[in-house]
Amino acid sequence: MEIKKVGVMGCGSMGLGVAQVCAQAGIPTVAVKATPGSTDKIRAGLEKSLGKMVERGKMTADHRDSTLGLLQLTNREEDVADCDLIVESIIEDLETKKALFQRLEGIVSPQALLTTNTSTLSVTAMMAVCKHRVRVAGLHFFNPAPVMKLVEIIYGFETSDEVIDTLNVFCKKVGKDPVIVQDTTGFIVNRLLTPYMLSAIRLLEMGTGTIGDIDHAMKSGAGHPMGPFELADYIGLDVVEAMTLNIYQDMHQPHVSSPHTLTRLVQLGYLGRKTGKGFYDYSVKPPMPNPALQHPVA
Ligand SMILES: NC(=O)c1ccc[n+]([C@@H]2O[C@H](COP(=O)([O-])OP(=O)(O)OC[C@H]3O[C@@H](n4cnc5c(N)ncnc54)[C@H](O)[C@@H]3O)[C@@H](O)[C@H]2O)c1
Repeated sequence: MEIKKVGVMGCGSMGLGVAQVCAQAGIPTVAVKATPGSTDKIRAGLEKSLGKMVERGKMTADHRDSTLGLLQLTNREEDVADCDLIVESIIEDLETKKALFQRLEGIVSPQALLTTNTSTLSVTAMMAVCKHRVRVAGLHFFNPAPVMKLVEIIYGFETSDEVIDTLNVFCKKVGKDPVIVQDTTGFIVNRLLTPYMLSAIRLLEMGTGTIGDIDHAMKSGAGHPMGPFELADYIGLDVVEAMTLNIYQDMHQPHVSSPHTLTRLVQLGYLGRKTGKGFYDYSVKPPMPNPALQHPVA
């Protein structure tokens, strides 16, 4: 099966990034804003970021124009009716995702592939609410989707081999470097990365080092491009907390429970780069540790 048109549900950091990847690869794409409100601001943001790529010589003006031309932004879920592949990228909440999968089955054709970009939730749990289950799978992109090469293609319990093959071909067509994995909480990357970020937060709480020290150590000593706090802020602390809760529910081990500092930052609405503050305060240049963290809780 050839993917000729893609529908992306959700226009947050990941949804919009995935939609950009598909349109950039020449595939007509519909991106559905999942919450009420105009899509004008989203389009303006995308035009700005593609414009910067043109200025930096990373994209031609023609490619920018064709990408924008292939990308339809909408509030109407029905607009994905003729898509061959759906990539769900809404909030990391199982019940909300399951309800969306059920609505999607009433909108798209029975052959269309239904995939989720979940970071840690069960693909099989979403498949379970669907009538046509063999076409349900995971398609886990990484942040920022236009830059990161990896996509985890995830088998749900009843996903067919043919669907996985189609997704593999699709990922390569849009310039990605996929790996096929089984439906395990966190798959490969987040199963390893989440406990790592949580350990960094616990080191901070124990007073082992400052946010800057720990980030510096992991960049300079382990060769990571970002430190664990920079990474957590980039991912979004609400997403990190959701991944933590899902992995904890699966493993029940103390080292994968949510540290107080993470819980409190999320409670305060400090979600990282997307809200301007997380472990760092991004309103100043260079970003400084968030003043709310002067007294971390052990
Ligand atoms: N942030 C990452 O690094 C990353 C990487 C890979 C996958 N993901 C996954 O992608 C998905 C989206 O994450 P994101 O980082 O784009 O988050 P985000 O906060 O940037 O976007 C969340 C999206 O969900 C929508 N939304 C909010 N409340 C909703 C509701 N009640 N019902 C339906 N939609 C709602 C928002 O409008 C927005 O489009 C999640 O499943 C997340 O786990 C995130």
